[in-house]
Amino acid sequence: MMWSLFFISFISFFTLSHQQFPRLCANRESLLSKECCPAWEGDGSPCGVSSGRGSCQDVVVPEEPDGPQYPFSGLDDREKWPLVFYNRTCQCEGNFMGYNCLDCKFGYYGENCTQWRASLRRNVFHLSHDEKIKLVSYLNLAKQTVSRDYVVATGTYQEMENGSIPMFSDVSVYDVFVWLHYYVSREALLGGPGNVWSNVDFAHWAPAFLPWHRLYLLLWEHEIRKLTGDMTFTIPYWDWRDAQTCDVCTDELMGGSNPPGSHFCPNWKSMIKVLCSKAEEYSLQGVLCDVTEEGPLRRNPGNHNRNLVQRLPTSAEVAFALSLSNYDTGPMDRSANMSFRNTVEGFGDPQTGIGNSPRLNMHAALHVFMNGSMSSVQGSANDPIFLLHHAYVDSIFEEWLRRHNPSSAQYPESNAPIGHNARYHMVPYLPLRRNRDFFISTKELGYEYSNLLNSNQRIAEAMRPYLDELRNVWPWLLFAGLMGGILAVSLVAAFLKVKQRYQWRPMGDWNNPCSYFTAYLFKLFRIPEKKPIILDSITEKQPLILGNVTEETSARNYQTTI
Ligand SMILES: *[C@@H]1O[C@H](CO)[C@@H](O)[C@H](O)[C@H]1NC(C)=O
Ligand SMILES: *[C@@H]1O[C@H](CO)[C@@H](O)[C@H](O)[C@H]1NC(C)=O
Ligand SMILES: *[C@@H]1O[C@H](CO)[C@@H](O)[C@H](O)[C@H]1NC(C)=O
Ligand SMILES: *[C@@H]1O[C@H](CO)[C@@H](O)[C@H](O)[C@H]1NC(C)=O
Ligand SMILES: *[C@@H]1O[C@H](CO)[C@@H](O)[C@H](O)[C@H]1NC(C)=O
Repeated sequence: MMWSLFFISFISFFTLSHQQFPRLCANRESLLSKECCPAWEGDGSPCGVSSGRGSCQDVVVPEEPDGPQYPFSGLDDREKWPLVFYNRTCQCEGNFMGYNCLDCKFGYYGENCTQWRASLRRNVFHLSHDEKIKLVSYLNLAKQTVSRDYVVATGTYQEMENGSIPMFSDVSVYDVFVWLHYYVSREALLGGPGNVWSNVDFAHWAPAFLPWHRLYLLLWEHEIRKLTGDMTFTIPYWDWRDAQTCDVCTDELMGGSNPPGSHFCPNWKSMIKVLCSKAEEYSLQGVLCDVTEEGPLRRNPGNHNRNLVQRLPTSAEVAFALSLSNYDTGPMDRSANMSFRNTVEGFGDPQTGIGNSPRLNMHAALHVFMNGSMSSVQGSANDPIFLLHHAYVDSIFEEWLRRHNPSSAQYPESNAPIGHNARYHMVPYLPLRRNRDFFISTKELGYEYSNLLNSNQRIAEAMRPYLDELRNVWPWLLFAGLMGGILAVSLVAAFLKVKQRYQWRPMGDWNNPCSYFTAYLFKLFRIPEKKPIILDSITEKQPLILGNVTEETSARNYQTTI
């Protein structure tokens, strides 16, 4: 409690932004005028128009027909997004983006968004000790920090009496994302208890699945960077091919299982509150999730229904999906045959490519396997494993894009299930983005995956941890060199001994992973001493040098499976 208060006041010095609904537009006036064009603080003009950042424009929604899966119109607030709520929003120029053009486009940095820099998403098992601690601490911080810039809707537009009674709630930075995923995938309320339409989802079961989650992860990274000031942060991926068990479910990473009677490591004690996880209940009552707390995160990996999911996906299945040259096919839903999207999502059979698979596979298999909060579409983003999982799915998407180099016309213009056509605005993001804008290489979006680097880049990347270590010890080595050979040897020996002692007698209890967070704070004040000695780190990092994907994977399995 003390810590979260401290952090809330600490981070309120930073500027935060993104997603929905912008606090500045979640009021009666904006809803009644249907205008969401807040001022950019830099010059006080709407959308920063005086500084050429952007301008307030009428929203244009596409006219192309949707598929037949959702036979209604004028019923759900997500139709023709965002017209039910707003018909004017900021359109940003050049490298600017954001609901008021405050931010830089992905990959751009600096006051005027003129610096370009690509970032790298790494295999979670190749993170350094420090990076793992940061990952856990940052996500916990996000869970404990109320979003300054965003609130979430807890009622329908109708319940808000067409905007005259706004219904929005404060949630944490983390929970804004939980809510986004809930809201996009929730059932359509047809009016009254139990009266819902389930065969609708604006981010799953259809072509936008991959672009939507790509944007979702980019925004997550963006928020973490703003929250922590650490502009180098990237979401790591979990390469789950051929895994026998949830090998990120360790105390050091995502925490263990959480069946009754067990408990998460205190690393994740912020995860005692999930929200928007009771899909059936909302449907029965015919209401939206009201973001009240719904108890602890649940996870029981491997104790799932085996008739539905036999095992985690294999390398061969991923290879098969990547070989499919059509992005999506036929009705572009769960029945699509020989569709890359449907196969990767898990509704196409990963051996034959035939849709409506009786078993769930690939992406979907992971969710079911976790047997808990991850297993329902609407509540799945409560579990931090969601991020590592979707980062890997996104890397498969990227590998497919690079292999097949599709024209942008491969992304369907029309007749996809509602929400999924090329120019549909992704629900429920504000500012507005179109699905097809994320059907491009990650290189254009300012990031890269370490498993997709070419071999020279991989070597450089593999050297990174050693260079970090060297930077810390090289003054010592230089000094030693000056003192001459024998002296050098004895110095290095003494040095290593000291290091070794530090390893085994740190201030925090490093053998107890539950003390990582405290240890991390402690670490801020004494950085160099905590680095592992070179010899240690070489053996630990060895798999990276091996270069190709298969070797990486098997090495990872040796390291981490029981
Ligand atoms: C936007 O909505 C407002 C309020 O309903 C309405 O007065 C205005 O005409 C609409 N503008 C456009 C471009 O549709
Ligand atoms: C950003 O642009 C403004 C206005 O053109 C200029 O005054 C300022 O010096 C620029 N800042 C940087 C860091 O280039
Ligand atoms: C909201 O708008 C709809 C359609 O314009 C109208 O039928 C309904 O009466 C309005 N409801 C309220 C509470 O103003
Ligand atoms: C977990 O697996 C059991 C056994 O198959 C199943 O009955 C239960 O519904 C699953 N729970 C979740 C949350 O998926
Ligand atoms: C997919 O293939 C199966 C088996 O050949 C066939 O029965 C089904 O009609 C096909 N589905 C579509 C949407 O083409």
